[in-house]
Amino acid sequence: MSKEATKDSHNNGLPKQPPSPSPLRFSKFFQPNMRILVTGGAGFIGSHLVDKLMENEKNEVIVADNFFTGSKDNLSKWIGHPRFEFIRHDVTEPLMVEVDQIYHLACPASPIFYKYNPVKTIKTNVIGTLNMLGLAKRVGARILLTSTSEVYGDPLEHPQTEEYWGNVNPIGVRSCYDEGKRVAETLMFDYHRQHGIEIRIARIFNTYGPRMNIDDGRVVSNFLAQAIRGEHLTVQAPGTQTRSFCYVSDMVDGLIRLMEGDNTGPINLGNPGEFTMMELAEVVRELIDPAVPAKIVENTPDDPRQRKPNITKAKEVLGWEPQVVLREGLPLMEADFRHRLGIPKNYR
Ligand SMILES: NC(=O)c1ccc[n+]([C@@H]2O[C@H](COP(=O)([O-])OP(=O)(O)OC[C@H]3O[C@@H](n4cnc5c(N)ncnc54)[C@H](O)[C@@H]3O)[C@@H](O)[C@H]2O)c1
Repeated sequence: MSKEATKDSHNNGLPKQPPSPSPLRFSKFFQPNMRILVTGGAGFIGSHLVDKLMENEKNEVIVADNFFTGSKDNLSKWIGHPRFEFIRHDVTEPLMVEVDQIYHLACPASPIFYKYNPVKTIKTNVIGTLNMLGLAKRVGARILLTSTSEVYGDPLEHPQTEEYWGNVNPIGVRSCYDEGKRVAETLMFDYHRQHGIEIRIARIFNTYGPRMNIDDGRVVSNFLAQAIRGEHLTVQAPGTQTRSFCYVSDMVDGLIRLMEGDNTGPINLGNPGEFTMMELAEVVRELIDPAVPAKIVENTPDDPRQRKPNITKAKEVLGWEPQVVLREGLPLMEADFRHRLGIPKNYR
């Protein structure tokens, strides 16, 4: 191929213009609404996102989910609603729908579930993201990927900015998730550069709130369920490793701002308030049951020692920062967990 042809095919190094959306999208007389696909919409963050999107009467929401970790209960209030549609679908298979925006969340987020079938996890991240990008290309939709702070691995920089490339083990037991999301980010940017697809990438840090799976191995849900049941809080050794926790309503707000804004990302979304695991256990005991003791247990391999987002970019570009502090968010989650566990407040 001549040098000139190569240059042309790459649009002088500039990202291509996105393909034209369906003409109906501009034909407001026929189609007044924004049609939005949420993959993984039956899960924890996805279902809260659906609730928020459905508040806008101009939105029609389609959820595609295979129910691996999600549940119909999370969406029960929308089943049968004229602006809502549910498709039982695995994103590792192609999906044909006509939409304007795609929030691509489908992927198990808890280590217990993503390690259960690591090959499926990496397929979900790689083939699933390829399928959703193919759909975005076909219909000219904007697509947002929920990536993760795990792309930073066990970070050597603290706090982590978006410029940090990470310190990830490519062959560890968590790699199906970490490396899967890294490839998903690569695919997003390759489709953007090569095909002009409008992309948005959020790097989500630990998020908590109602509808998290009980006993899913994530630290907030574990501690909360243990405290409510009156069991020991199992703190993984050494207990000095840190995490930061973002309440789910803040996360949903950040995702929608990112989708609606002009910046491709990646953008860190998370709460910079940092807690050691021992401190978190103390807050949970204080709020729920000071009588339950904490005990140190063995840690899992490749558990990062420190995790705290630098959210300067989110503040500047999206005007976003978390509003809900841990002491406000935990009681909201406690009410949901007590309801699902069937253990009312002053039970014991
Ligand atoms: N919750 C967090 O703290 C956190 C942190 C970083 C990133 N994220 C990302 O946010 C997204 C949502 O996380 P979550 O906490 O809501 O997890 P979740 O497990 O509650 O939700 C994931 C949803 O995806 C569905 N799903 C999984 N594999 C699928 C497949 N192959 N096809 C179709 N659906 C599939 C599940 O059934 C579930 O409904 C994920 O992409 C996750 O990686 C979450």
